[in-house]
Amino acid sequence: MEVLRHIVVLIHLVGFAVLFGAWVVEAVGKRRITRLMDWGLAIAGLAGLILAAPWGIEGELNYVKIGVKLVVLLIIGALLGIGAGRQRKNGSVAPALFWSVGVLTLTNAALGVLWR
Ligand code: HEM
Repeated sequence: MEVLRHIVVLIHLVGFAVLFGAWVVEAVGKRRITRLMDWGLAIAGLAGLILAAPWGIEGELNYVKIGVKLVVLLIIGALLGIGAGRQRKNGSVAPALFWSVGVLTLTNAALGVLWR
């Protein structure tokens, strides 16, 4: 069970890598919202929900942290949706929206690593 949980953590990290990697590529490029970001968010979110259940670990899970991460994930999802829509209409996305996606993604990773 413990090994299986570690595999799900690895998948969670792959989701983070895809989302943040796709964002960094755009941050140094055209600053657009891309489909790859949606995929990274979906992978990290799905694996995160599986990790939110108490299996394969000893001790308690930090449900306050998990709740905060879920809210941050939903905000990132909303920003990606709004951004993709605006981009389709106007051809570009507001800088504040674009940068928020990266900052909030990094925030969720920091919460995962630093808040024990
Ligand atoms: C953009 C979204 C997210 C990113 C970038 C992200 C990133 C991370 C990172 C980097 C870790 C550290 C892994 C480690 O210390 O080994 C982590 C751990 C964790 N995340 Fe996320 N996460 C996201 C969303 C979520 C969501 C939505 C949930 C649950 C609803 C969640 C639940 C967890 C849990 C439970 C852990 C601890 C895993 C463990 O130590 O067993 N994450 N996350």
